[in-house]
Amino acid sequence: MFIKISQTRLADAPSLRECIDSVAREASARASNVASSPHDLERSLRACLESASVHLVALDGNRVVAWAQIERGGDTSVAHRGDLRMGVLPSYRGFGLGKRMLDDCIAAARARGIDRVELEVRTDNRLALELYRSSGFAVEAIVKMAMKMDGKYHDAFRMSLLATPPHAESPSKAAADDTGLFFIDEGPE
Ligand SMILES: CC(C)(COP(=O)(O)OP(=O)(O)OC[C@H]1O[C@@H](n2cnc3c(N)ncnc32)[C@H](O)[C@@H]1OP(=O)(O)O)[C@@H](O)C(=O)NCCC(=O)NCCS
Repeated sequence: MFIKISQTRLADAPSLRECIDSVAREASARASNVASSPHDLERSLRACLESASVHLVALDGNRVVAWAQIERGGDTSVAHRGDLRMGVLPSYRGFGLGKRMLDDCIAAARARGIDRVELEVRTDNRLALELYRSSGFAVEAIVKMAMKMDGKYHDAFRMSLLATPPHAESPSKAAADDTGLFFIDEGPE
């Protein structure tokens, strides 16, 4: 099955919302991936596309099955910083799509001068933590009682990935030089 990774278009908004909504319902992902109303999502997507932020989707046909975004800081003094959010629909996980989306998103952010990518992830979100660690993110702090959901508090890690010096190999090299197509090998039928 071929999945196409591309820059998000406004036309993707309804399917993107379904994807975010589905991921946001999962207990450990809820705090970092909030589903907005159709109107709010379209507004924030428009702002994202018009700014130097990055917004990518993975499409199975016309259906958004994953997204990754790095939203750039608004003020000039923080314009080198970007806030990462991402998610993959459950049935598309474990094939390397999340890693690939993350790499592509970071490569695009670097190209736009975003030298510091940061995120907040719940301490019990093991899979996301593994992914971020394996992509070079480091924990900067523990945010105690970072989120409150259904009356329960959750701690979170603040993580960041800083731009590597120009002479060092970019973590996103592999993603930079291919076609945007991602292959999922589902094995024998
Ligand atoms: C986190 C998430 C994006 C990973 O997506 P994915 O497509 O399954 O990830 P990949 O297949 O690319 O795997 C990337 C890395 O995650 C880890 N990982 C993925 N599935 C794993 C599993 N079943 N067991 C252990 N580690 C796993 C591994 O480190 C893996 O790297 P490796 O294959 O080199 O070992 C996905 O689980 C998700 O959408 N979760 C819900 C939303 C969420 O938590 N978003 C982040 C909020 S901050």
